[in-house]
Amino acid sequence: MKTLTESGLTATALARLDGTPNPRMKQIMTALIRHLHGFVRETGLTSAEWKTAIDFLTAVGHITDDKRQEFILLSDTLGVSAMVDLVRHSRQHEQGTDSSLLGPFYRDGAPEKPLGASIAGDTPGVAIVVRGQVIEAGGRPIADALLDVWQAAPNGKYDIQDEHQADMNLRGKFRTGADGRYEFRSVKPKSYPVPDDGPVGVLLRAQGRGPYRPAHIHFIITADGYEPLITALYIAGDSYIESDAVFGARQSLTVGYHKGRATNGKSERTPDAIEFDFILAAAASEQRARRPRPSRTPRSATRSRQRRAI
Ligand code: BEZ
Ligand code: FE
Repeated sequence: MKTLTESGLTATALARLDGTPNPRMKQIMTALIRHLHGFVRETGLTSAEWKTAIDFLTAVGHITDDKRQEFILLSDTLGVSAMVDLVRHSRQHEQGTDSSLLGPFYRDGAPEKPLGASIAGDTPGVAIVVRGQVIEAGGRPIADALLDVWQAAPNGKYDIQDEHQADMNLRGKFRTGADGRYEFRSVKPKSYPVPDDGPVGVLLRAQGRGPYRPAHIHFIITADGYEPLITALYIAGDSYIESDAVFGARQSLTVGYHKGRATNGKSERTPDAIEFDFILAAAASEQRARRPRPSRTPRSATRSRQRRAI
């Protein structure tokens, strides 16, 4: 038997993957082992520290159930969810509006409402209107796009976290008209902390980090022939924009907040407003169909185009 060295151990562990039938699985496991071994070598990780890490992951598992997903929260607070998102987006052939985290508070089955309706019921707060257009990368309006919208109340809680809110409060679906426009009413969202009463909260505090997300409204936008867009709009000026605990906020998704104006003398005001146009990328299948087929192109040029498309 060979003497085991640090680099020899990595090579031996990688060789054990030789029989992996699924090539993507083999690629991912190879990179994972290489990076994990490199991490242990780089930090000089001790057995006690590795045990602490195992105990931490065990606690993450124990607190996770069908209502609470601490592993996703861990991925979010480590920036891994945002990185997966960035990598996917940067490799799309056609670029639309940036995506942002889905988060754990999305619920299927929000009620569809007419354009202009409110999702806020009797929630106390500052009245706002949210409006804009859903368009293609070339600027053409997209009719019949479905916007599935959800947000936390001004007390920082989603309906599922707060027994005082009605079921499906601050959730709704809206369909764009022929001009691609959407509009709905709500109340101004506020920054709120991600759940920090579990092991991820312990980790955040050990790093001197806070749990807050800047005020935002979530959207899932779907339309036939386009890639679904999961994103959120962040309100400019929020003090947590730069320190978002889950790295979801970004400049391109930060929207101005326009104060309403007095109308009718001074007795009435227009609601405060947020305006944003969403760009949907054509569905991957449509993009492939639209791309010109190479005809009698020299073989080397064809090969380099194929590499770019992967
Ligand atoms: C959210 O915005 O709803 C969220 C995202 C990631 C972790 C926790 C909450
Ligand atoms: Fe949220």
